[in-house]
Amino acid sequence: MPRFLHITDLHITAPGDALAHTDTSATFARLVDAVGRLRPAPDFIVASGDLTDLGDVAAYRHLAAMAEGLAVPVVWALGNHDDRAAFRAGFSAQGAGDAPHDHDAVIAGLHVIALDSSVPGLVSGGFEPAQIDWLVARMQAHPGLPRVLAIHHPPRIDPDMALRWPALDASSTRALAAAIAGQEVRAILSGHVHVNRMLMWGGVPVIVTMGQQSAIDPVQEPEWHVVEGAGFAICDLYGADLQVTYAPLGEARLLHRITEDEARAYP
Ligand SMILES: [Fe+2]
Repeated sequence: MPRFLHITDLHITAPGDALAHTDTSATFARLVDAVGRLRPAPDFIVASGDLTDLGDVAAYRHLAAMAEGLAVPVVWALGNHDDRAAFRAGFSAQGAGDAPHDHDAVIAGLHVIALDSSVPGLVSGGFEPAQIDWLVARMQAHPGLPRVLAIHHPPRIDPDMALRWPALDASSTRALAAAIAGQEVRAILSGHVHVNRMLMWGGVPVIVTMGQQSAIDPVQEPEWHVVEGAGFAICDLYGADLQVTYAPLGEARLLHRITEDEARAYP
């Protein structure tokens, strides 16, 4: 039973820099603590972009150092706040300077694919045609494996969406749908919009997690209220079935404890 965690929108800043709304380094430290206590332990973690707030090398170095406290592999994807060259410098990651940071690995029997949906200079997301070609080739290299995709911008399912930026552009969404048709995609993990949201997109679950910096209160539209909120998602796969549990990363007040024995005694 593979278990993986979805974290996103970390918005880490370098020590000494102004905070982006909240102390995201302190929130990441709470995540490290939570991962260490989680049972069963996860097989891996997917971080779906906006790793840093300003895309500077110092912030990536700081994040890379903090992530050494995690005892499980992390799949790093990039978002619109990220900078490809700075990420590669800060993480000692391979790849050419400004090329999209697309990569994949087989972990716990899953083909985990990170697709870089950032478009330099834009808040909205999209893919270059060569990225879709790469995706198809990598899936052909691992035929039949169940897959998990990390993509910062979620697919666009609302054709009348007035705003351009909250999702992948329409043509990239169509290209992605065609590429993964018939593949065993168990989940797409996204962020970007700082809300907990679940999409069912052409039969593929898209798990959007609010992330670790702040949350958008969806009740306040069309005005936006940026409020405190941080969390991550615990994803458990049982064959083709997926369970997603959203876990808070804030300082929640304990109301009551229930022991394991008490819980088992419930009829
Ligand atoms: Fe973000």
